[in-house]
Amino acid sequence: MSKAPFRLDGRRALITGASKGIGFAAAQLMRELGAEVTIAARTGAEVQAAAESIGAAWFAADVSTSEGVQAALDAAGQVDILVSNAGGPPPSLPSEVTEAAWEQGYQTNFLSTVRLAGGALPGMRERGWGRIIAVTSMTVGHPAINLPVSNALRAAVTNHLRTLSLEVGADGVTCNTVAPGYTATQRLKDLHSGPRQAAALAGSIPLKRFGEPREVGAAIAFLASDEAAYITGQELLVDGGYSI
Ligand SMILES: NC(=O)c1ccc[n+]([C@@H]2O[C@H](COP(=O)([O-])OP(=O)(O)OC[C@H]3O[C@@H](n4cnc5c(N)ncnc54)[C@H](OP(=O)(O)O)[C@@H]3O)[C@@H](O)[C@H]2O)c1
Repeated sequence: MSKAPFRLDGRRALITGASKGIGFAAAQLMRELGAEVTIAARTGAEVQAAAESIGAAWFAADVSTSEGVQAALDAAGQVDILVSNAGGPPPSLPSEVTEAAWEQGYQTNFLSTVRLAGGALPGMRERGWGRIIAVTSMTVGHPAINLPVSNALRAAVTNHLRTLSLEVGADGVTCNTVAPGYTATQRLKDLHSGPRQAAALAGSIPLKRFGEPREVGAAIAFLASDEAAYITGQELLVDGGYSI
């Protein structure tokens, strides 16, 4: 039984990029808090297994395409809570990003949120209630030298949702971003291999450890609740104090 001071009963959520990591943790917590949840990711077997483990619906979709976004929205049906998330761009030096990598990042980490929000918004406005939350990164405010595509496009997502929040607040729809710091997921392992590198990195964080996916999921779930109704156009950093 959850001890959370808020619930999500009766809400329907679509969470993309949610077969593992932060997206999955958010989905799991939202299920515990009473929401009906649909999760999406590209690898069908993984997203199915993840969904079944938490009693969620699932759909295999690639949110880097408009067809994939539409399919995920169709599978979810009514979307009261949208969590726009996907995998992060591959590392590279800023001067070495190819046109193809910019294009891929633009589709996956920017247009996906624009399209998902655009598709979910009419129903939210009609019902007078909605939550749009995008997972970005602490690199919005603290660019990492090896993540140039992420640095640029997460900033674009942040300002898109800040701008959208100005338009849709009157309809009961809030738009926010959750910006994780170093969080113990597959993505972190892929980017920072080796125990010594990981230990040095963890030591540079004020809380002296990586975040748990569930700790980021909790921030997402809170922003999705009725209790967060007066929070919009904001970036919520969940980074163990790293950005200080
Ligand atoms: N972990 C960190 O330390 C950290 C820090 C800052 C920001 N972030 C950002 O937070 C987000 C989530 O990170 P994470 O660590 O949870 O990543 P993760 O463990 O790699 O999980 C990514 C999830 O997204 C899915 N996905 C990837 N590309 C997709 C696409 N095009 N369409 C639909 N689903 C897709 C993956 O499944 P499939 O591959 O099967 O599609 C998987 O379910 C990423 O954007 C990451 O850059 C992470």
